[in-house]
Amino acid sequence: MYFTKYPHKSNFSFTDSYDAKTSTIAVGARQFELGVTEHQGDITHIQVKNAAVWQDNQCLESLELPAVEANHRVKISKDFQINILGKNGKPAFKGRFGVSGQASIFLFEIPEKTQFFGMGEKTFGTLELSGLRTKFWNTDVWGDFHAEHYGRNPTDPPYLSLPYLIAKAGDEYFGFLLHNPHPAFMETPGTDQSRAFNEWQETSSELILGSEGGEPNLWVLWGPSLRELTQKLQKLVGVTPVPPAWSLGYHQSRWGYGGHDDLMELDRQFSEHKLPCDSLWLDLDYMDGYRIFVTDKKMFPKGAAHTAEKLALTKRRIVPILDPGVKFDPGYVVYDDGHLHKMFCLNAEGKEFIGLVWPGETVFPDFTQTKVRSWWSDYVKQFAKSGFGASWLDMNDPSTGPVDPQGMLFNDGKELHAAHHNQYALGMQMASKDGFLKARPDERPFLLSRSGFIGSSKNAAIWTGDNLSNYFYLKITIPTSVNLSLSGIPFNGPDIGGFGGSVSDELMMDWVKANFLFPFFRNHCAKGQRDQEPFSFATPTMSVIRRYIRLRYKLFPYLYNLFVEQELLGDPILRPLMYEYPTIGLEGANDQFLVGKYILQAPFVEEKAKTRSVFLPGDEPWFDAVSGEWVASGSLTVKSDKVSTPLYIRAGAIIPMQAGTPIDNAKELRNVHFHVFLPEAWSGDSSETYVADDGISFAYKDGGRSSAEISFACAEGNLALNFVQKASGFGEINPTFIIHGETKSVRLNGAVVKLSSAKVVLTGKSLKVQIVKPI
Ligand code: NOJ
Repeated sequence: MYFTKYPHKSNFSFTDSYDAKTSTIAVGARQFELGVTEHQGDITHIQVKNAAVWQDNQCLESLELPAVEANHRVKISKDFQINILGKNGKPAFKGRFGVSGQASIFLFEIPEKTQFFGMGEKTFGTLELSGLRTKFWNTDVWGDFHAEHYGRNPTDPPYLSLPYLIAKAGDEYFGFLLHNPHPAFMETPGTDQSRAFNEWQETSSELILGSEGGEPNLWVLWGPSLRELTQKLQKLVGVTPVPPAWSLGYHQSRWGYGGHDDLMELDRQFSEHKLPCDSLWLDLDYMDGYRIFVTDKKMFPKGAAHTAEKLALTKRRIVPILDPGVKFDPGYVVYDDGHLHKMFCLNAEGKEFIGLVWPGETVFPDFTQTKVRSWWSDYVKQFAKSGFGASWLDMNDPSTGPVDPQGMLFNDGKELHAAHHNQYALGMQMASKDGFLKARPDERPFLLSRSGFIGSSKNAAIWTGDNLSNYFYLKITIPTSVNLSLSGIPFNGPDIGGFGGSVSDELMMDWVKANFLFPFFRNHCAKGQRDQEPFSFATPTMSVIRRYIRLRYKLFPYLYNLFVEQELLGDPILRPLMYEYPTIGLEGANDQFLVGKYILQAPFVEEKAKTRSVFLPGDEPWFDAVSGEWVASGSLTVKSDKVSTPLYIRAGAIIPMQAGTPIDNAKELRNVHFHVFLPEAWSGDSSETYVADDGISFAYKDGGRSSAEISFACAEGNLALNFVQKASGFGEINPTFIIHGETKSVRLNGAVVKLSSAKVVLTGKSLKVQIVKPI
């Protein structure tokens, strides 16, 4: 299979008739059974069956189906035209269905000026995705593409496949999800900029959604708004359960940290520099000769549990890497055990399939089988108990090095590689999660994974794989992470500072400033590159990096509550501006983003840029966190400066923060400062729900959570605040209110309060605020 070539529509035969009585569609002499199921929330499932052509897709994670309910969003005509109706009841998308052997396509005529978003993990550098031919096939980018290419160019496809497309037609959003682990492909109408000077630079004028094999399975979702669409999609593929609080902190990684001594030295340095850091990550070097689940005794002479106990004093966890590949090494217990119990994928000769990864010849657990997932989870259980707080699942694309992965067969050699390739990482995530739950049933597990598929959101956070320390890679972090967030992977982030190449001081500061509020925040780099820990830079640079790490911890209550909201409602943490401001166009789409609904960032992502333009949406002014002034919405130009980064807060925002400047990992959710942002003489109101829980156990599911309603009304500077605790499963929430803006009078729950003045630092200069503390 070529992952850089795409089936062409002319090689397909299309349906010519449809018999509604028998639910049969015909393509020439071939007949197919059609299933159209309508679900609550304008979600429709279109399935085409023919047992002689396709088996069941055997998706490892099923979708979370809303109840079946008529929605009349999809109408099928006699000649099998698939009409997807817009809000006016008229067809917005008119589709046909075609087959070519085992491949299938849905081909849609689209309304004029349709825009496209989503597509899971893509690195094209733009949020809008017209004019693209793309495949969904998990790759190991550095193993599968030439270094000349990935240096400063988008590589496609990357590590994770989420064949989901968002189409915006007029002011309505539609979603298309292909729930099929076989290689999928899409072609969006427009001009493919990567194919300059070729006649075939123009892509198909119709939208193409297809799969190279597997039963055709198309889910059509109707928003109509982007928020409604994203919530529906997230619930369908599975929300991310609120993760342990520590996983939202800062993570320090590098390929090269060995064992106990390295970790203790890092721990000392983070404490000495008063830098919060929740976990220290181990790459391949902690293992005994790349043998997974075997820790090198030289690295941990007293065992990893001993190191973990020491690190617990500063509340840091150890997160080791786990690759799926098992060293082919008779005598090595994991290999022998897996071999004996037939846990590994086979080749066409019925022997264990061998790839070439870090340990040399490597075999691969067949995660598509329940018995293999259970076998793996027992190893993970022991591994977790040996001192490890979580795990980092790498190379699960699966990477087979220079060996063609197509030779790796599943289910005792009976199923083709392509049938499961894209969900291999998902199987590894499911099994590893089970292992952590077996080891610590009362703790929320945390996994980071490189590859993934539909359903990964329920099991792991995703990082976007190997990048380079250059501005091309910094810049694409924004559209890549935002589109992932719209595609059902809310917990994601890149390697901060860049993985390959040596980062400059300027790039490191710009990177931290741009991504410090991304859902996942880990500094990682490759062996042999310049050290990237904050304290490895000279003090002026280190102080800037530290300032933003501390600010993330200050904003921890806000971030944590965004994850809670995501679990309840399905809203992502990172949002494009149009998520909250539906009437705007693509202004700021590629280099600005929102964190929740209140914080807008417009970081500097161009090398040596002295100024940049910023677009502030809506009709109300925005609070400039650098200057503490209110600026009118619309377009403006801002100047770069070393210490600060353009960050704006919406008028009327209520943002929960920790008190003071965090200098360690403490995460206080009960004694919380609610920062309220009020433009001068502003009239308006606002309300928020705030929750607090222990941040680690599942008690929150069973009453162990406190919640409060915070609201205010402001009339020309006269502010009436209200705070009502609604649930107390995690004890009392003690609020302090910090007012940014002038007020004439302040009342709290009806009573006049005394104000005191103070100063707060966010991203720029020290800001004057008023403090309201309940008496
Ligand atoms: C590839 C991963 O993407 C990278 O993060 C890791 O450091 C190397 N493998 C070595 O394990």
